[in-house]
Amino acid sequence: MSHQNPKLSGAKAVTVETLQEMKRAGQKIVCLTAYDASFGSILDEAGVDVVLVGDSLGNVIQGHDTTVPVTVDDMSYHTECVSRGVHRGLLVADMPFLSFATPDRAVDAAVCLMGGGGAAMVKLEGGEPVLEAVRVMSQHGVPVMGHLGLLPQSINQLGGYRMQGKSKAGAERLLRDARSLEEAGARALVLECVPADLAREITAALGIPTIGIGAGPDCDGQVLVLYDMLGITPGKKPRFVKDFMAGAGSVREAVAAFASQIRSGAWPERD
Ligand code: KIV
Repeated sequence: MSHQNPKLSGAKAVTVETLQEMKRAGQKIVCLTAYDASFGSILDEAGVDVVLVGDSLGNVIQGHDTTVPVTVDDMSYHTECVSRGVHRGLLVADMPFLSFATPDRAVDAAVCLMGGGGAAMVKLEGGEPVLEAVRVMSQHGVPVMGHLGLLPQSINQLGGYRMQGKSKAGAERLLRDARSLEEAGARALVLECVPADLAREITAALGIPTIGIGAGPDCDGQVLVLYDMLGITPGKKPRFVKDFMAGAGSVREAVAAFASQIRSGAWPERD
């Protein structure tokens, strides 16, 4: 799917290879979620490298308590909407709950998200149980982003949104899963709510870039849920979230501040 945006003509599109080069060059990767064309366009014009159509849309758009009810059709619809506003950034779509429970199901979901939705990459949660799906999709030309640490789709099993990998065994398992995902073909990895030291260790151990959320400053990039960083998500926000609207004159300014603070290393701060 190709969309020409005159404002951005000449801007080089971000690819999975670009993310790899950014890791090699030590340039921070800026990632935010979007769920519609207008916000997608604001993020793109602000130079956000990765625009993630997160299944967090189950919370912030649909009003559910968890991401569990989100379907492939929901993801495909919102990905297609966002794709109309994004011309430079790498468009990544989340694979929703159980859509990758088998390699066949994962391939079918990837067809919808990439073929129908226009995503350039898919993201899926989990370690060992998803390796075969990652392997099969990668072998068939689907760029895959892994997601380890706090897995919101497993919230009913976890029993709460808390930091993962705090015990020695938990940390070892996360490092092992991260290595296995890379070996299975994953091209990038989100680390959610893991201790900063562990995120640094995983980032150093992998050739592929890591993108952190509540995982300290030493990941190769950072991501937040857009509505969290704009301060409009109702209820209590996670400790690691910064409200970039506070002090900004517009959404555009808030997104620009987010990008520049990540690139300069000013945010996230070291504990
Ligand atoms: O669904 C989502 O928005 C995500 C990010 C928080 C990483 O997975």
